[in-house]
Amino acid sequence: MAIRPILTVPDPILKQVSKPVAAVTDETRALMDDMLETMYAAPGIGLAAVQIGEPVRVIVMDISPEDGPRAPRYFVNPEILETVDETQPYEEGCLSVPDYYDTVERPAKAKIRYLDYNGREVVEWAEGMYAVCIQHEMDHLDGTLFIDHLSRLKRQFAINKVKKARRAAAA
Ligand code: NI
Repeated sequence: MAIRPILTVPDPILKQVSKPVAAVTDETRALMDDMLETMYAAPGIGLAAVQIGEPVRVIVMDISPEDGPRAPRYFVNPEILETVDETQPYEEGCLSVPDYYDTVERPAKAKIRYLDYNGREVVEWAEGMYAVCIQHEMDHLDGTLFIDHLSRLKRQFAINKVKKARRAAAA
């Protein structure tokens, strides 16, 4: 396992549409292991492969309480089959937009289908924090960031903030 660098805005790779994975292999699992280690080290609760420069449809997540045991989740080729009309607002953040948080409104529940770490198909309803997180991460697979759900002004503010922080860190 290895910690990989996380791309931040406005890196154009983050806007790419990620490609489906043909089959869950040891190579896929090695990628998921790296992603999980990178996510825990950041620290974060979700990470899409494109955020470490691998535009394939793979996501890792751990939304368990911070003081509890780790509960990693792995998603390969996830799809949203159904959502409810009801929405929930949630203050989101993203490892690719460090230190910027804003409220996004998304469907409160989503029925999803994906392959797990072992390549088994899972179909289930995600709700609460799980629904927020999986929809945020699945957006990444289509080149969409949570700031793309905000006004142009807020989006530009967020990107400028990240750029400025990077310049300050490099100085
Ligand atoms: Ni994100």
